[in-house]
Amino acid sequence: VKTLITIALLSTLSITASASDDPMKKAVEARQGFFKLLSANMGPLAAMAKGEAAFDSTKATLHAANIEALAKYDVSIHFPEGTSAEEIDSSDAKPEIWLNLEDFLSKYENFKTAAPGAAEDVKGGRGDLGKVVQRLGRTCKGCHDDYRNK
Ligand code: HEC
Repeated sequence: VKTLITIALLSTLSITASASDDPMKKAVEARQGFFKLLSANMGPLAAMAKGEAAFDSTKATLHAANIEALAKYDVSIHFPEGTSAEEIDSSDAKPEIWLNLEDFLSKYENFKTAAPGAAEDVKGGRGDLGKVVQRLGRTCKGCHDDYRNK
């Protein structure tokens, strides 16, 4: 029975995995999923910082900790050559990424270095949270301005 369950599970997984068989499209989906997670955590932090949502220390800490965790992820593996917006319709990645790969990666590094400590730094209140949102948000914008289609 155990084997049958395993086989059933594996075939379910492979059906999901083959939703898009093209490895280039998969790379785009993967990185967009990553950025969606980032923004799903940045959004609530920004709302609290702006006063659109009440400051909640527990929630702020949780979202900031998620961003710290995501910053440990190496998203560069999902940027293979041949996946710019000019080559893959569903992408907003500018072709300049692959012409200035070092600069692009250094912008990702800026995000990675801004994240550590965020969960601790948001605890103090809205003012502290605002500083963290700025510190992180600057690195999103810093990369999007040059490398993401509007
Ligand atoms: C090193 C560059 C870089 C950094 C840093 C970066 N992004 Fe992006 N982001 C991109 C690129 C490139 C795309 C377009 C990806 C694509 O469509 O292929 C993108 C796409 C997105 C998207 C759209 C995802 C989708 O559904 O298509 C969101 C949302 C986003 N980024 C949020 C963020 C947030 C929030 C941060 C900071 C916490 C951030 N990004 C940091 C480069 C970056």
